[in-house]
Amino acid sequence: MQQKTTAVFESQFEEEVYEGLTAFPKHLSSKYFYDAKGDALFQDIMNMPEYYLTNSEYEVLATHTEAICDLFSRGVDKFNLIELGAGDGKKTKILLKHLSQKGENFTYFPIDISQNVLNQLEQSIQKEIPEVSVEPLQGTYFETLKTIETLNGVRKVILFLGSNIGNLLHPQAIAFLKNIEESLAEDDILFMGFDQKKHPQTILDAYNDKTGITAAFNKNILTRINRELGGDFNLDLFLHWEVYDPETGTAKSYLVAKEPQTVTIEKLDLQIDFNAWETIHTEISQKYDDNVVSWLAKEAGLRMITEFSDTKKRYKNYVFKKDNSNQV
Ligand code: AVI
Repeated sequence: MQQKTTAVFESQFEEEVYEGLTAFPKHLSSKYFYDAKGDALFQDIMNMPEYYLTNSEYEVLATHTEAICDLFSRGVDKFNLIELGAGDGKKTKILLKHLSQKGENFTYFPIDISQNVLNQLEQSIQKEIPEVSVEPLQGTYFETLKTIETLNGVRKVILFLGSNIGNLLHPQAIAFLKNIEESLAEDDILFMGFDQKKHPQTILDAYNDKTGITAAFNKNILTRINRELGGDFNLDLFLHWEVYDPETGTAKSYLVAKEPQTVTIEKLDLQIDFNAWETIHTEISQKYDDNVVSWLAKEAGLRMITEFSDTKKRYKNYVFKKDNSNQV
C-alpha cells in the first residue's frame, strides 16, 4: 500500500477516509452515507415494510399522544420544542397537531444540518398546521443547542427520534447524552427513541432488504469517495453484509470485497489493496433494553422519568430529566 506523502487533509471526510482505509481492519463512518442521494435512499428505507423502526415509533407517538404532550406542557404556560435531526418531521407532526389543537403556547425549533431539509419541513408545516410557530435552525446539534440555551427561562423539550443514538458506540452515546444534559435546566425534558432488542431475524431483515435499498445506501459511501475524492471503487465488487449479535444488541454493516483488488483514491495519493473477502465496517445500529438505557442515562447524569412503547414492544421512547440527586 502506498502512503499519502503529506498529512495535510482538506476536509474531515478526506482525513477519516484515509485513516479508515489504511487501518486494520478497515472502517468508514456511517455519517458519510448522507449526501442528497443518501438522504433519498434513507427516505426509501423508512418506507420499506422491513424497516419496522419508523412505523413502530409512529405508533408510539400516535397511541400515547395525549400523555406525551401533557408531559411536555405540564406546569408551564410556554415551552420550546427542539428537535435534533428533524428530517421530514412526519412523526413529530402528530405531536405538533395535538399541541396546537390544545392551544398550547410553544415554538418548534427543528435542527438539521441540511438547509434543504429545513426549508421543506417549514413549508409543509406552514401548509398543514399554519398556527404552529416554527424557527428552523441549520447547523450541528451542539452549535444550535448553544443558541437555544440563550432562550433562558422557557422550558426546553428536546426530541431525538428515530433511534439515531444507535449509530453511536456506547462511549460516544454517553458523551452525546452528557452534552445534552449540560444544556438542560432542572425542569427541561429529553424525549428519545431507542430501538429495542427483539427476534434477531426481524433485525437482520430490517437491515438486509431483498430489494437492495440498504445495500445501495451502504455502498453510497463508496460512490461519494469516487466522486468527491477521485476514487475508482467498482461497486459491483463489494457485497453489503449485515450481522446482528443478540448478546450485545449490536447490528453491524459491512462492505465485503468479493475478490482481490486495488483501489486508487487520487485526492489522497492512496492505493489500497483488498484481499478477497476483506471487509470495510461501515455502521453500527445498536438495539437496547431498559437496563442498557438506564445505564447510559445514569452515566450521562440523566434520570429516566417514564417510557412509552408500541404494542409489539419493538421500540420505546423514554423521557429523561437532569438528575440533580447527587448535587449538594
Ligand atoms: C439513521 N439510523 C438510525 C438508521 C439505523 O437504523 O441505524 C440508519 C440505517 N442504516 C441502515 N438502515 C437504516
